[in-house]
Amino acid sequence: MASISLLFLFISFQLLLSISLAIVPASDTFTYVNEGVFGDYVVEYDATYRFLPPSRNPFQLCFYNTTPNSFTLALRMGTVRSEALMRWVWEANRGNPVRENATFTFSADGNLVLADADGRIAWKTDTVGKGVVGFEVLTNGNMVLHDGKGNFIWQSFDSPTDTLLVGGHLRAGGTSRLVSRSSTSSNVDGAYSLVLEPKGLALYYKSPNSVRPLVYWTLTVSDKGSLANLTFSSELADADGSLYEFRFQYFMTNPSSNSYINIVLSRYNNTLGIDGNLRIFTYNPNLQVYSWDVTYRFLDRRSRYGECQLPERCGKFGLCEDSQCVACPTPNGLSGWSQDCESKKVTSCKSGEFGYYKLDGVDHFTIKYTRGDGPTKQSECEAKCSKDCKCMGYFYHTDRSRCWIAYDLKTLTRVGNSTNLAFIKTPKK
Ligand SMILES: *[C@@H]1O[C@H](CO)[C@@H](O)[C@H](O)[C@H]1NC(C)=O
Ligand SMILES: *[C@@H]1O[C@H](CO)[C@@H](O)[C@H](O)[C@H]1NC(C)=O
Ligand SMILES: *[C@@H]1O[C@H](CO)[C@@H](O)[C@H](O)[C@H]1NC(C)=O
Ligand SMILES: *[C@@H]1O[C@H](CO)[C@@H](O)[C@H](O)[C@H]1NC(C)=O
Repeated sequence: MASISLLFLFISFQLLLSISLAIVPASDTFTYVNEGVFGDYVVEYDATYRFLPPSRNPFQLCFYNTTPNSFTLALRMGTVRSEALMRWVWEANRGNPVRENATFTFSADGNLVLADADGRIAWKTDTVGKGVVGFEVLTNGNMVLHDGKGNFIWQSFDSPTDTLLVGGHLRAGGTSRLVSRSSTSSNVDGAYSLVLEPKGLALYYKSPNSVRPLVYWTLTVSDKGSLANLTFSSELADADGSLYEFRFQYFMTNPSSNSYINIVLSRYNNTLGIDGNLRIFTYNPNLQVYSWDVTYRFLDRRSRYGECQLPERCGKFGLCEDSQCVACPTPNGLSGWSQDCESKKVTSCKSGEFGYYKLDGVDHFTIKYTRGDGPTKQSECEAKCSKDCKCMGYFYHTDRSRCWIAYDLKTLTRVGNSTNLAFIKTPKK
């Protein structure tokens, strides 16, 4: 008796399980294989690509690669089938590529799965048993898995890559962020990231030398309360429908102070990308060539921040003034700037085998947005750098006795103030 009822329970559980899982209509499930001919058009990073059926003008899902047999599943934006560039605006598996014959599957259980040719799962939405009935690419480029009532169970806007499309959002607490790509050929996370913090947006630079990411730009959106999330939105700004106003619409943890800030007016719809600089692009499908236009740069010679805030504006080591690279600092003074300027490597950490040379009226890219340590004596600031083999130099403000230790030099900014000093570590020959 006991074993029979047990058996019955077991069977009915199985039955229930299969009913609650199999809710995507069979005709809507799919498996696409990464195989066949490549597409013909010019795409970002000079990639080769294969497109997949899921699409919604001007967005199309594709497999693309920039190094042989190393594919990313990504959403492409652009429809102009001539010389115009098409851009990658979202990626499923950056840093975890798949090969030829990889599969992208939407199964009856409501899961989207990207699996390599050998079956290894590279990426998935983890949406089994959550009531998913369909997958869709929306007109704004958001890809969604929705339930029977139209609620989004999963959406690509929750995990942006390096681009925010209009309607896309960032959530505070680093749960979503934009991260630059390492290089045009290598699709792994790069050095730059855009993060939503309690008061606003911040750009960070993280090099292999730096212990933690260094902030090099911030934009305070609200100083009352804490931000919950921020949406990149556009509003029609004139009657004939050709002018849009771009905004950061933000939500606070305390909803009474929700609001927005305007960024720029533009003729078309935009996306936001990051490669150290934050740019707003306009895509105009009516143009055959130049259909992409950079509408706005956050760090720009015409903006109040200026290009000198960009960590790599002047290469590995250069002096920047009014958005231009003006000199290459050396132990013997300033020389002409070139892309190859570099500080001399300090290989020994023993005191007596290295020293410092001083630059007057110079700041590091982190100084504007960080407080530094102190008040402290300059000699203590120097001692801290000397003890730390990775320290490449230190920055000291004599008026407020504050100290910054630098693990990367990169772009230094010339400032008017003679109270701002830089001390660059250099080997004693
Ligand atoms: C992909 O799979 C097809 C069919 O199984 C096979 O003929 C082909 O050789 C595979 N391609 C690669 C690159 O492994
Ligand atoms: C943003 O935060 C508000 C308030 O917490 C919330 O109601 C809304 O759903 C959030 N939006 C997104 C896109 O997370
Ligand atoms: C801009 O976006 C809005 C809403 O997403 C859309 O209605 C409009 O057609 C778009 N305009 C252009 C020029 O793409
Ligand atoms: C320059 O120094 C003065 C005091 O010596 C200080 O009040 C001012 O804020 C400094 N300016 C900058 C840009 O650091």
